[in-house]
Amino acid sequence: MYASHHSSLLLTLQTVTLIPGDGIGPEISTAVMRIFEAAQVPIQWDERNVTAIQGPGGNWMIPPNTKESMDRNKIGLKGPLKTPVAAGHPSMNLLLRKTFDLYANVRPCMSIEGYKTPYTDVDLVTIRENTEGEYSGIEHVIVDGVVQSIKLITEDASERIAKYAFEYAVNNQRSSVTAVHKANIMRMSDGLFLRKCREAAENYKDIKFTEMYLDTVCLNMVQDPTQFDVLVMPNLYGDILSDLCAGLIGGLGVTPSGNIGTNGVAIFESVHGTAPDIAGADLANPTALLLSAVMMLRHMGLHAHAQRIQTACFNTIQDKRVLTKDLGGNAKCSEFTAAICERVQDLD
Ligand code: NAI
Repeated sequence: MYASHHSSLLLTLQTVTLIPGDGIGPEISTAVMRIFEAAQVPIQWDERNVTAIQGPGGNWMIPPNTKESMDRNKIGLKGPLKTPVAAGHPSMNLLLRKTFDLYANVRPCMSIEGYKTPYTDVDLVTIRENTEGEYSGIEHVIVDGVVQSIKLITEDASERIAKYAFEYAVNNQRSSVTAVHKANIMRMSDGLFLRKCREAAENYKDIKFTEMYLDTVCLNMVQDPTQFDVLVMPNLYGDILSDLCAGLIGGLGVTPSGNIGTNGVAIFESVHGTAPDIAGADLANPTALLLSAVMMLRHMGLHAHAQRIQTACFNTIQDKRVLTKDLGGNAKCSEFTAAICERVQDLD
């Protein structure tokens, strides 16, 4: 379809696996597809479901045709997935993370002009190690009333996340990377993580490297978040700090994310849930999924398309005429989407 507008793009049409997800997932996915079509992005979608399947050995897995699609296309865009309490299977997000070894969680937090929050001009990125650390899930009872939880830090995982942070900085015109740690207390574990960050920094002389204690980062972050650029950290610190940073720019409804895995796989997703209270009512705000899709385009090297869509989205919000309820307006998801499509075409 895009090829008929731009026959020169025919050769470079790339396929992306689309997992619409549950609840509002299909509505916000449709919104993104419409905006991509309006912006004539040279990609086509390979739509797949993610439901828990039990393999012959009893192991839970994602549907084989979804895995094949991701293995083939490498790049995925994903809506939220519901995790029913007492579902009897692990969270689908966890299964996806394990299946594709999604080791880096990346969240850019950028203030949206016209969407008022206590902070302005925030423009930072948190990069969280996502496979080990405090969340390695190794816990046991020593004796009655005494439990132990193991924080696992490995050289390999620390090295790859540190390297990824610097690569990200280079590829996204960022000037500094801050390693967030508590190596003063956890000398061996955070010490190893920090050492790997320092070593990685040696190979990226153009990127300024700083190291900071987690508590100092928290203090400075709420005082003036504009001093931060790229932050890299172990799992638990990343979990907490990335939500804190999302709060600075207006919450999970406008925060995109990307999950980077091994073998070139990357899955981009909004960080909010399925919003069952408004699902199917055409009330959802597609901004977080759209900005995740913009991140995806940058990851794929489609910078001009990414910029145009981001500008159209931010201008629509700034303009305040057509906004979804959560942004303070009364437009439907489809109306907000149409407003962005119109602007994207005007930017042509
Ligand atoms: P939620 O994020 O779905 O909803 C919290 C509140 O925010 C609700 O009032 C909802 O209407 C609103 N909201 C969320 N996204 C919105 C959007 N795009 N536009 C407008 N309003 C929006 O969190 P909740 O209720 O805790 O979780 C619901 C389900 O989502 C659960 O099954 C949970 O497991 C799943 N979930 C999935 C995630 C994922 O797949 N990445 C992340 C978080 C939760």
